[in-house]
Amino acid sequence: MRKKTIRDIAGISGQTVFLTVDFNISLKDGKVTNDTRIVEAIPTIKYLLSKKVKIVLASHLGRPKGVDPKFSLKPVAERVALLTGKKVNLIEKYWEKEAVDKVRSLPSDQLVLLDNIRFHEGEKKNDPTFAKHLASMADIFVNDAFGSSHRTHASIVGITEYLKGYAGLLMEKEINMISDALEKPKRPFLVIIGGAKTPEKISVIERILDIADTVALGGAIANTFLAAWGFGMGQSIVDYEMVEMARVVFWKATRQHSALMLPLDVVISDNQRQAKPKTVDYNQVPPNVAIFDIGQKTQNHLKDMIKNAGTIIWNGPMGLYEDPRFAKGTDSLLESISGSKAITIVGGGDTLTSIKTKSCLKKITHISTGGSAMLEFMKIGTLPGIEVLENA
Ligand code: ADP
Ligand code: 3PG
Ligand code: MG
Repeated sequence: MRKKTIRDIAGISGQTVFLTVDFNISLKDGKVTNDTRIVEAIPTIKYLLSKKVKIVLASHLGRPKGVDPKFSLKPVAERVALLTGKKVNLIEKYWEKEAVDKVRSLPSDQLVLLDNIRFHEGEKKNDPTFAKHLASMADIFVNDAFGSSHRTHASIVGITEYLKGYAGLLMEKEINMISDALEKPKRPFLVIIGGAKTPEKISVIERILDIADTVALGGAIANTFLAAWGFGMGQSIVDYEMVEMARVVFWKATRQHSALMLPLDVVISDNQRQAKPKTVDYNQVPPNVAIFDIGQKTQNHLKDMIKNAGTIIWNGPMGLYEDPRFAKGTDSLLESISGSKAITIVGGGDTLTSIKTKSCLKKITHISTGGSAMLEFMKIGTLPGIEVLENA
């Protein structure tokens, strides 16, 4: 399944590359709170610049409905300029015909960044006309957006109908690191999944139970599984449409003799988070409250499992980490994982943002920029955005 990378492109100098990246980072008060996803794409940008290539960068940010200044890539453009030392030209109305002329006219030692690619509806629809328009800005397509490559969108998949596609250096690294860990995982193999993107994550757990010895759940996704057991979840986030699917996953876990671990205790407050946080057992959640974190018993249990594990993969915060009162479960998990001797892979947009102590990062085998994408890659060994790239 090896794919051609930017190193395999003959005669690349002087060409224009359309470079899709996953700059879907977290913002607070209009400022970038964690730039790991940007930093990780810099080697590809620097490599292309060293080859005298003109770069047109494209990324989404969040899930905007149409053009919305709150989701503009402006703060990202500033960070890219800081990290590369290059001027970054942000093209706002990149869907207009004039944008192509503008991109073509800019000097090649400056960078071009299209504003949030999801501002145009053609992106998510994988609209061929929009994909062709994007392709007309460049000569070659490079995908370095591992974290978004599970999406069949125009700047990830559709564009390869019009331009030859190659993997960027981050994409290559992600594929190699995750494939290596999965090929012969040191056992016990523990996968920890949290966060809130329940539909996409639930659908991969079933398959992950085939390869992992234990799948431990926390965060909002665990609520749906507890609800599937029949426990009252009060006002907590529960994806009721996924409850049936969660039951199928339980059934599979029983048949596989693999373990699916749910929180033993949870931290609750009222929906507005006014009430002082309180810890209760998983089966004692009153109707008028919501779950915002995992409790101490669950943290200890995870710590014990981590101590014994040979391979650990973690995606998704254990609670609403943005509020420090509900970040303890996530912080304690990171501490346990970074103290482990196992092969460790940690990934996901919010998961990376939740990491405050950079020193922990050095102790982790691989920091992945993918969250749902990483889980999906574990499930099928490839992604739609990887499949369409040139084979080596
Ligand atoms: P990642 O980006 O790491 O893949 P997700 O995007 O799936 O993670 O989920 C991250 C979001 O989940 C965060 O905004 C976090 O606040 C939220 N979250 C996690 N647990 C809970 C919970 N119990 N209640 C509400 N939100 C939660
Ligand atoms: C992510 O953060 O998981 C990726 O950037 C994909 O975002 P999406 O779930 O909005 O497609
Ligand atoms: Mg996220």
